[in-house]
Amino acid sequence: MPGDGGLRLDALRWRQQVVGVEHEVRLLDGGRTTYVNLDNAATTPVLRHVQHMLREAEEIYSSVHRGAGYKSRRTSDLYEEARAEVLRFLGAQDGKRVAIFTKHTTEAVNKLAAEFPLERGDVVILSEMEHHANLLPWRGRAEIAYLPVDAQGRLDLGALPDLLERHSGRVKLVAISGASNVTGYVNDIHFAAEMAHRHGAMIFVDAAQLAPHRRIRMLDADDPGAIDFLAFSAHKLYAPYGAGALVGPREFFRLGAPQLRGGGAIKFVSLDDVIWDEPPAREEAGSPNVLGAIALGAALRSLEAMGVERLEAREHELLLYLLGRLGEVPGVEVLGGMASDERIGAVSFVLDGVPPMLVAAALGWEWGIGVRAGCFCANPYVMRLLHLSSPQVAGLRDEIARGERSHLPGAVRASLGLYNLEAEIDRLHAALMAVSLGEFKGRYAIETETGEYWPEGAQEAWSTL
Ligand SMILES: Cc1ncc(COP(=O)(O)O)c(C=O)c1O
Repeated sequence: MPGDGGLRLDALRWRQQVVGVEHEVRLLDGGRTTYVNLDNAATTPVLRHVQHMLREAEEIYSSVHRGAGYKSRRTSDLYEEARAEVLRFLGAQDGKRVAIFTKHTTEAVNKLAAEFPLERGDVVILSEMEHHANLLPWRGRAEIAYLPVDAQGRLDLGALPDLLERHSGRVKLVAISGASNVTGYVNDIHFAAEMAHRHGAMIFVDAAQLAPHRRIRMLDADDPGAIDFLAFSAHKLYAPYGAGALVGPREFFRLGAPQLRGGGAIKFVSLDDVIWDEPPAREEAGSPNVLGAIALGAALRSLEAMGVERLEAREHELLLYLLGRLGEVPGVEVLGGMASDERIGAVSFVLDGVPPMLVAAALGWEWGIGVRAGCFCANPYVMRLLHLSSPQVAGLRDEIARGERSHLPGAVRASLGLYNLEAEIDRLHAALMAVSLGEFKGRYAIETETGEYWPEGAQEAWSTL
């Protein structure tokens, strides 16, 4: 479909369906411009349909699963419809899977790590590409083996069979991201699943970045390439109201005791006994984030209506454009290289001689462009992509431990949403050209505790926004 002019027309239509895309912001020099949001990998704006759906849901907003009144029953219906939508979106309606609402991906991984039965000597395979959300919860729970990335930063899945073999019989889980939030590289999760299953392990996919950009099929539970567990966040899927989901085998969540315990999770409680409810209820103790879940369901319905494959095709077109424009800027180096295959629209780069935090500050204050700079909660991966040596990493660690963040390594990330346009990338290009030539409108100073750059006069400019 690349080159299909209809995709651009679609993008213009989709743009109309997103809230806040024409928002005006004030710049450092007092001028005004329409904000360009290229920070969608962090959080996406709201879809209009989600906003409407929420307004309606608020009219009947009430408790779920507990009240006998009309509003409570209706709210419970909407909550459960959202749950069904999550399973539909992932092709996981075989009845063997269950969707559990969480706050976000981070909570979902923590829940899974807390509940996954692991004993001394068990191994969990992670990768060097992971976001901290899929690194830290597993540490201390099992022996960790890391799947390496290659020189480009792509996951070396070819090393997985050997790794599984090396720890034969001890690997209980392979937990990898579906797509990187740094390079945008997409991993072959079904190959990884097949390998894991062949060695008696299960697979978890952190789909925080994959779900907003690619059609996901968890596949029938008895398919060798099926995904056992998967998590994602609503706020990266145009429904930023604090919901997320963990999807996994219903039977798994019947075992043991839930991590979170309290009301709503039980069938019976006496002073010394408890009978836990069936999943998903037993995994959702306490009053859930009903509106967040309803928003997520509405967003997923909207994305389906737009056409997930068409969204993918348009994003690829825009990714090619972004990579091409970045390639024109002297001194820009894209982390992981310029290849566009198997890559979502998240591209991180460095600009020779200009600290990434300074680039990001100038883009924001002088050009009205929102990006993110730093290590994107994937410190090991970014340090690897920046080719930092072990002594350099150790030195940085000591500086940071002392509260000194002036030399933070990192990159600038431009990440695409379904509403972004070529003209917005042109603005990024113009801004980077200026920055690469040292043309700043402001005088910037670094804040050592945060590593962020602030222009002189920022306070006044901010207070008059
Ligand atoms: C790949 C990946 N995993 C996990 C997360 C964590 O998501 P959340 O902050 O919504 O829990 C992110 C967020 O950026 C991410 O990009």
